[in-house]
Amino acid sequence: MKNTPIPLYLKEEEREGLRVAGRFNAQLMDFLRPHVKEGVSTEKLDKLANEYTLDHGHVPACVGYLGYPKTICTSVNEVVCHGIPNTRPLKDGDIVNVDITTIVNGWYGDQSETFMIGNVSNSARRLVQSTHDALFVGIHAARPGGTVTEIGRAIQTFSTKAGYSVVREYQGHGIGRDFHQEPGVPHFPTLKSNRDLLRPGTCFTIEPMLNIGSWQTRVDKKDKWTVRTIDGALSAQFEHTILMTEDGPEILTFTKEGPQEGHKF
Ligand code: MF3
Ligand code: CO
Ligand code: CO
Repeated sequence: MKNTPIPLYLKEEEREGLRVAGRFNAQLMDFLRPHVKEGVSTEKLDKLANEYTLDHGHVPACVGYLGYPKTICTSVNEVVCHGIPNTRPLKDGDIVNVDITTIVNGWYGDQSETFMIGNVSNSARRLVQSTHDALFVGIHAARPGGTVTEIGRAIQTFSTKAGYSVVREYQGHGIGRDFHQEPGVPHFPTLKSNRDLLRPGTCFTIEPMLNIGSWQTRVDKKDKWTVRTIDGALSAQFEHTILMTEDGPEILTFTKEGPQEGHKF
């Protein structure tokens, strides 16, 4: 029988390690945000993120992770996730998800935002709005002593009502001294997540990806990373790292200047 890894319930000092990592990761997002503009290449954003992380004495988590070549993921338009930064300048009407992960004193922080470049279509704006709202619907569904599936059920119900499909092949994840660990956090209900408890001291991400068309995806044959919607329709994503405490979920990657809960795009 396959061994199930023991879930991590973090002690106060470990929680503090994650708080510090989340705070730095959020600070990096605040640094990057003004640079995400028409005309900038995603490779330039990658370079800025890499330098900022190293200058502060921290470690970019993605470089070399399972062979990933860059510091951040930049997923433009129909790219769902894991887009590799390149020389193409962002252009008016694009939507781009910027996903950043750093390691601070051995602890991971992970978050992403979808940005609208210049004037985007109404349908793109509405998708970005609903995806941001879906993240907070998921956060509010998380409660101490609850189960992971309550997050997925809330996100799935909300997103379907809004008219979007929810990506199934990529999920949120436990996070700590490892990038990806138990529990997996699917953005729809599953039998496994129905058994996974959200005890105080569990740290995990919520990172819904919503699509205008089909939920299905395909990985780029050449680069083996870039994940696109199967039908080429737009996809958006937002992500936070969340610590479950005795009093409820705490957002560790909260940014001062980023979109807050309820933000109108
Ligand atoms: N940051 C992504 C996540 O939210 C993972 C990126 S892995 C990489 O889990 F290798 F593509 F960077
Ligand atoms: Co993540
Ligand atoms: Co991420």
